[in-house]
Amino acid sequence: MLGRVNHVAIAVPDLSSAAESYRSTLGANVTEPQALPEHGVTVVFVTLPNTKVELLEPLGEASPIAAFLAKNPAGGMHHICYEVADIIAARDRLKQAGARVLGDGTPKIGAHGKPVLFLHPKDFQGTLIELEQV
Ligand code: CO
Repeated sequence: MLGRVNHVAIAVPDLSSAAESYRSTLGANVTEPQALPEHGVTVVFVTLPNTKVELLEPLGEASPIAAFLAKNPAGGMHHICYEVADIIAARDRLKQAGARVLGDGTPKIGAHGKPVLFLHPKDFQGTLIELEQV
């Protein structure tokens, strides 16, 4: 069911300083910030030859990463995103297997304009999983 790793996401308290650190210190290509109010985050992508790293900063009062940053003030790895060919088939298979899909199970449109879903970290080794249909 799983395809390639689409991205690894890191929550950060200060997006411009994190982007600058990747750009200058690590010598990576970093996209311009993109506000995603529906997801409560502003993102940049670090584009690598084989995948991407997504740097996430909270946006708005009800940001889903605010609690994570309260626990990890310096930032930290937030989720890993795997590609799937059919997100509805993946969701139904996971629910059948007893895995918890976050929200009401309806895919949202993610940062790349593609449908995404999140899976409960307690069901997957303490790691939040994002599935993206490609
Ligand atoms: Co993501």
